[in-house]
Amino acid sequence: MPEQVLVLGGAGFIGSSIAIELKKNYPERKIICLDNLRRRGSELNLPRLKHFSIEFIHGDIRSPADLDPSVLKVETIIDCSAEPSVLAGFTSPQYVLQTNLLGTINILELARLTKARLLFLSTSRVYPIAPLKSLNLVELSTRFALKAEQTSLGVSELGISEDFPLQGYRSLYGATKLASELLIEEYRQAYNIPTIINRCGVVTGSWQMGKVDQGVFVLWVAAHYFQKPLSYIGYGGTGKQVRDLLHIQDLLRLITHQLQHFTELDGEVFNVGGGVSNSLSLLETTQLCQSITGKSTQITASLEERPGDVPLFITDSSKVIARTGWQPLIKPEAAFEDIYQWISDNEATLSPILS
Ligand SMILES: NC(=O)c1ccc[n+]([C@@H]2O[C@H](COP(=O)([O-])OP(=O)(O)OC[C@H]3O[C@@H](n4cnc5c(N)ncnc54)[C@H](O)[C@@H]3O)[C@@H](O)[C@H]2O)c1
Repeated sequence: MPEQVLVLGGAGFIGSSIAIELKKNYPERKIICLDNLRRRGSELNLPRLKHFSIEFIHGDIRSPADLDPSVLKVETIIDCSAEPSVLAGFTSPQYVLQTNLLGTINILELARLTKARLLFLSTSRVYPIAPLKSLNLVELSTRFALKAEQTSLGVSELGISEDFPLQGYRSLYGATKLASELLIEEYRQAYNIPTIINRCGVVTGSWQMGKVDQGVFVLWVAAHYFQKPLSYIGYGGTGKQVRDLLHIQDLLRLITHQLQHFTELDGEVFNVGGGVSNSLSLLETTQLCQSITGKSTQITASLEERPGDVPLFITDSSKVIARTGWQPLIKPEAAFEDIYQWISDNEATLSPILS
């Protein structure tokens, strides 16, 4: 394990969790988190980083000057910085492009100049929307589900694998992530930068500042906790749209393994998610929230679909499971209990952000 690690987006949900996990596992390592605090609530992670003696730099990946190789002499870069919302691509395209694409170029230049290895957090959103909307689905009483018979490559009852075709539009967010993946592979080949790419499905857990356009499971638990209204958007307003969820602790176990086995995993692109057994529809999410919080909240049906939305995404993580032996272990019930406990322990601080 190298000496110095730079976590970009290090005040965000995944970035701060990785930094703290690394510091707990390797107290002697220097961990630096860089973030521009664009995400509302990211500032709440700063005292946590300080508590674990993690250095924080207020910086912006859009600015090459903030990624100065003479200052950031690191051996490992973990890139968790992004505008991670699909909807942001429809409202703030400049920010999405500048951060998620130009930012990647600046990060790759830092990796080239410092000879650091790069672990990149990509997204299931690299898969195009129209083919995802044409999956063979069956409508069950509480959810949509994948049929056994599918016509496309890379889809089975287990979900979407890395073989799913990439042709078609995918939202600006997804496009900036896929373009970043392509550039990362070019830098890997041209400059021998070791890289690993994780295409994550929905990741959740405590310290995620869930909002309407990103972090749906925290949004749902919080709305029940604080008694705020919700809506089932699109698909007839039935709440049958499905996602798989991965608890942050499961992701951290995988990333720890990947950092320990970087050389053998160099150049790999993995789908990483909770899989079918950790998937929920919104309707099922509501039922789980009611049983954990003991509260119901008002949920309206909104018939108009959100731009860039898909009725179902379930990650087939077979490849990463086969290559690493890793498995997601935390079930949705335990993930929601964790979120509930975190909100209840930090109610006053979180109320302005989550309610
Ligand atoms: N959470 C998920 O469900 C999920 C799923 C798939 C992929 N991802 C990817 O994982 C990564 C981390 O996501 P997250 O859930 O922690 O999101 P997050 O919003 O909590 O964290 C991202 C952090 O990046 C920071 N940031 C934004 N623009 C920046 C800039 N120009 N310069 C420096 N920092 C900037 C934000 O302030 C924030 O703290 C992202 O790349 C995201 O695309 C997340």
